[in-house]
Amino acid sequence: MYLTFYGLAEKPFNATPDPRFLYMTPGHREALAQLFYGTQERKGFIVLTGKVGTGKTTLLHTLCQRLNGQSAISFVVNSTLPFDGLLEYVLEDLGVAKGGESRAQRLMALNHFLIERQRAGQNTVLIIDEAQNLDVATLEQIRLLSNFETPTSKLLQILLVGQPELKARLNLPELRQLKQRVGLRCQIPPLTLEETRAYIRTRLRIAGARDLGLFADSAVDRISTYSGGIPRLVNTVCDHCLLFGYADQKRRIDRPIVNQAIEYLEEGTRQRPKVRDLRESKMGLLLRWSLGTLVVTLASAVAALAVKFNAATFGLIQSVRQLLVP
Ligand SMILES: Nc1ncnc2c1ncn2[C@@H]1O[C@H](COP(=O)(O)OP(=O)(O)OP(=O)(O)O)[C@@H](O)[C@H]1O
Ligand SMILES: [Mg+2]
Repeated sequence: MYLTFYGLAEKPFNATPDPRFLYMTPGHREALAQLFYGTQERKGFIVLTGKVGTGKTTLLHTLCQRLNGQSAISFVVNSTLPFDGLLEYVLEDLGVAKGGESRAQRLMALNHFLIERQRAGQNTVLIIDEAQNLDVATLEQIRLLSNFETPTSKLLQILLVGQPELKARLNLPELRQLKQRVGLRCQIPPLTLEETRAYIRTRLRIAGARDLGLFADSAVDRISTYSGGIPRLVNTVCDHCLLFGYADQKRRIDRPIVNQAIEYLEEGTRQRPKVRDLRESKMGLLLRWSLGTLVVTLASAVAALAVKFNAATFGLIQSVRQLLVP
């Protein structure tokens, strides 16, 4: 609803992991480069971690776009599946026509597919997102998938992607064999203040905004502190700021609007701006302007009275002088 008011072609701060909106911080760039390199160099197991909402899934979609054509990819998003369900999903995703009913048959079908792709000069990549949810038994079964190999290279590249708990899970003694096979690790750090500023501007630009400075610097500072540089939180706050800004018909998002958006997200209510905030807001400006006008008006009134008083006094002195001096 705020799109027309802010001259936007689409919503800039959607919660979906749309790679069109990707803003590459040095952290994202490095992680993407490592994922790409790891799959191309057939590193076997690759682990990507990052806090909730830092952009892991978005980066994976970007990786899939880059690998498209060069690799067969299976992207598993439901990490709560038991191993057999997961295997069935992967075969379907890779387009393996007939997987078979038993686990052995499915594993054979996968093996044939991998060898076929290898002969065709293509790599096969299995991406498991939200891998922090996998239980130890399933992770152990997944490790066995990496046994599909020729004497010279791995036939299946497996990307385990998840929140920092995944790292802790891989440190469990039961999973030491899997841990040993991890050929590459990378992580996505949160955004710094400057990156948050650039992130907001990038998303505004992609959404068609003409005014990339829509969020005032003080507003970005507040968003950065509140979100801790987590892109998903930045999106949520910015979206609410645009809603409230539109409701108040504000062309520029300032700090008081951010404070209201945060309060709304935290408490579910929208408070009136605090007096401190008013100083920065348009209302503050209006108040100062009104006070200024009042002071000027009072000063003028006092001056006018003084002039009148002076004139009256002058008239009186003249009359007395005429009486005394004939
Ligand atoms: N580098 C980025 N550029 C643009 N948008 C981003 C970036 N990183 C994250 N986002 C946005 O932040 C939101 C969360 O991103 P995403 O879902 O990829 O995070 P995640 O790390 O996979 O989260 P979770 O841990 O919950 O799975 C999405 O709306 C996404 O578009
Ligand atoms: Mg994700």
